[in-house]
Parts: sequence; structure tokens; C-alpha cells
Amino acid sequence: MHVRRQLIAGNWKMNGLRADGLDLARSLAVWLNGDGADVRDHVDMLVCPPATLVAPVAEAVAGTPLGVGGQDCHAVEKGAHTGDVSAWMLKDLGASHVIVGHSERRTDHHETDEQVRAKAAAALAAGLVPIICIGETEGERDAGQALAVVSRQFNGSLPEGANGTNVVIAYEPVWAIGTGRTPTTEDVAEMHQRIRADARERMGASAEALVILYGGSVKPGNAAELMAIDDVDGALVGGASLKATDFQAIASACV
Ligand code: 13P
Repeated sequence: MHVRRQLIAGNWKMNGLRADGLDLARSLAVWLNGDGADVRDHVDMLVCPPATLVAPVAEAVAGTPLGVGGQDCHAVEKGAHTGDVSAWMLKDLGASHVIVGHSERRTDHHETDEQVRAKAAAALAAGLVPIICIGETEGERDAGQALAVVSRQFNGSLPEGANGTNVVIAYEPVWAIGTGRTPTTEDVAEMHQRIRADARERMGASAEALVILYGGSVKPGNAAELMAIDDVDGALVGGASLKATDFQAIASACV
């Protein structure tokens, strides 16, 4: 029996035109209200489509148990920031969550912990739950620095006012993303325990409620083992979230 209600979140990344995205979201919502009803009773499910699809997907699944989130937001509410999307805009479209600090943004857009923290603060101010991503590179793990790096990212990326109920943490080792490789269950357990311990220092007792997701090559075949680890409260799923049956199988592995 899990202490916290689990969250299975799909990060579609830069994938999906309108027809496919709507099909995928609709079929997940139908499943949650039908064959997936016992999963729905124990697990929250969320999809994070590209910004272009947040509005149509949110409209298509409104009133169903499926949640919708963004993949990134700007740190301020509005202004001269061509091409950016604010947390308030996502909220306005029906999003409940937003991913911030994904390793692809830290790499492609050189986002720092400080910028991630500002984005997470904006999400909180807009009434969204930020899903704050942290994780070491392969070189950092090989050098024995994984725990220290992730701890530093956690403390650097967590905004003022964060507590166990208004933010979600996603531990995503960079080397496990899209590679088919995952850390051992012992390594995942050790990292999640460390994040929980850091959270206790920052948040006090509310850290017991903090949802800490694992992400990186989560598939139907490894989900049950990963989701059974203490302090793993769900998954942030990339590739396997693009296929309804795979994403459903991952959520089913939680119950
Ligand atoms: P994959 O599940 O494709 O490895 O991606 C993980 C991820 O980056 C989710 O945010």
C-alpha cells in the first residue's frame, strides 16, 4: 500500500499534431472512466502535450479524471518575451501542472537552477503545480557525484513557499532518458530517500506528502519494479506515454 497517492505523468515532448494528440488524450480519458476505473481510484494521470495542444486537449478531457499540464513556462506573467508562454496562460487553458527544469531544457536552452526556481515560483503564483525535474549526467554518476548533484539541483530549483502538497519532484537521470537504460532499483531507492531527506530539511513535516516521480525509460516491462520502490510515488514518462496502451499499462503497474 502506498503512503502517497501516485501520479503517472506523460511528457509528450515535441510530438503530436492535433488529431493524434486528441485521439490519445480522449482514449486515456475514456479508459479512466471505464476499464481503468480501479487505477483511477488510486492513481492520478496527467498528460503534458506541447503548448500548441494544451487548449484542445484540456477541452477534450474536461470533466474527466485525466489532468493536463504544460512542459515549460516563463518566469514572469506577461510582457515582451516573444515565443514564450506564461504559467498564467497555461492555467487559463485548463492546465493543473507544468514541468519545469526538464534536462532537455537545461541542455537545449541552458536553463540554470536559478531560472528553474523562478519558473517554479511563477507556476505556484499562477496556481499550477510545478513538476520540478532534477537528475545527474552519466559522467556525474560515474564520478560518484550523483547524490551531491541531485541534492544541489533540488535545493537550487525549489522555490520559496514550496511544500509537500504544492510541488512535485521528478528525478530523471539524464543518461536514462530515451536510452532504454535505467538505474538499479537500489540506486533509485537511494536517490529518492536522499530527496525525501532534503525535502524534510526544507519543508518539515509536509515532506511526507511530497510526490517524487522517477523518470527515464519507464516502460510497461519495468514499471511494476520501479513503482514498488519506497519513496517512488509515480513516474514521468516520455516515449511510452505516446501510446495509450503502454501508458495505461504503466499506470496499471501502480495498483
Ligand atoms: P523517456 O521515458 O522517453 O525515457 O523520457 C523520459 C522523460 O524525459 C520524461 O520527462
